[in-house]
Amino acid sequence: MADSEAPRATANRSTTPGSDTFKDYISSEWADRPDTLPAPREQSAFAADRRARLSALHTGRRLVVPAGQSKVRSNDCDYPFRAHSAFSHLTGWGSDTVPGSVLVLEPTADGHEATLYLRASAGRDSDEFYANSEIGEFWIGPRPSLAQVAADLGVATRDLAEFEAVAATFDADTLLVREADPELTRRADATGTAVGTADGVDVLARDLSELRLVKDPYEVSQMRLAVATTKRGFDDVIADFDDIVAHPRGERLVEGTFNRRARADGNTVGYDTIAASGDHACVLHWTRNDGVVASGDLILIDAGIELESLYTADITRTLPVSGRFTEVQRLVYDAVLEAADAAFAIVKPGIRFREIHATAMRVIAERTAEWGFLPVSAEESLEPDHQYHRRYMVHGTSHHLGIDVHDCAAARRDLYLDGVLEPGMVFTIEPGLYFQPDDLTVPAEFRGIGVRIEDDILVTGDGAENLSVGIPRTASDVEAWVARG
Ligand code: GLY
Ligand code: MN
Repeated sequence: MADSEAPRATANRSTTPGSDTFKDYISSEWADRPDTLPAPREQSAFAADRRARLSALHTGRRLVVPAGQSKVRSNDCDYPFRAHSAFSHLTGWGSDTVPGSVLVLEPTADGHEATLYLRASAGRDSDEFYANSEIGEFWIGPRPSLAQVAADLGVATRDLAEFEAVAATFDADTLLVREADPELTRRADATGTAVGTADGVDVLARDLSELRLVKDPYEVSQMRLAVATTKRGFDDVIADFDDIVAHPRGERLVEGTFNRRARADGNTVGYDTIAASGDHACVLHWTRNDGVVASGDLILIDAGIELESLYTADITRTLPVSGRFTEVQRLVYDAVLEAADAAFAIVKPGIRFREIHATAMRVIAERTAEWGFLPVSAEESLEPDHQYHRRYMVHGTSHHLGIDVHDCAAARRDLYLDGVLEPGMVFTIEPGLYFQPDDLTVPAEFRGIGVRIEDDILVTGDGAENLSVGIPRTASDVEAWVARG
């Protein structure tokens, strides 16, 4: 622990016996543990291929990819640990990653040699296993052995203690994913070499973001599974609508019901569930979720289940709580659906990512102009200098999706917004219309209506597949879905 960090404030309430008698006793009479080796997990071969592609980008340089550390929530309680996405992508290790692990690719004559450093299991001759509430086996469960992890992930492993010798030789030829483990980055910077930066850019984080732009078959299968699991979460919410409407904080019940499915069938949610009923739907990331869900409301639910592999879906559906859209709700809904469908229709290899947004925006401009909400024509509004229609949809239409909900975020603009689509890319299409409750530019009956429809899209060899097409999305199908629930 660095000098600057205060120790966790638990020492004054510790009741752990300190006598030698106790230490001798608790370290004795434990049965031997067989070191049974698992078969390699499915993603291990894909992770090896990803490491090979990274290796080819950085011949002769040492590459360091930390999983990161647990983050303190308050005092001695941590948030649930979540490995850095680049680490998980390159190792295939997901929710069961041992915190603090580090993947190192050491340059060799013909590429790189990968070693995964992790904290080895503590022996019963240590006091860690019973006395350390952060990492001890009695407190959080056993860690796998080095041999088990090596077999499971198909990569050589070493004890984390040996990583100290690697960290001591960080130099200008070392590339570190700087955002993954701030303490390690501070140590690297203290060596006086610019470990991993070029013009202030975290080079390795950028390259790893870009490597993830095209998903491999394992990743695509995980995305399908994440979407199917997420659908079950939405079904659960609809089935609970009677209880949800009856509760003064029905939005919390929506969140609870969805998140229950996420924990039961996946790892957790891929991001905080947005359960936004009535006016709250006009708040793009409404996660306070403390409002009532009234029968005449539309409820916007933006939620995704993350699997144990850490791949997540990101789906939004906007549902009429009563089972029937009003005329004006349906008008808005159909405009958003039209924008989503128009955007989806152009997706194929070779087009630019930003064309998807432009296509959705044309529909949003045309409909809001037709309704008389814009001070100019749709065509004029679409001029870069105008953009009046964006008052009603200030967010973008699409983002890459995968092991992160906003995947590949460090990729260069050339490859992201200005990038050309390739088969295997996965991203959202999520247009919306949000008429704030106090927006004087729209008639009263539109105020307080917020609609977003978000699907997860896979680019195929000659077009695209909507991975979430099985989650009802037309107004009539949504009404029938709520009625069935
Ligand atoms: N699902 C939340 C977002 O895409 O920002
Ligand atoms: Mn999204």
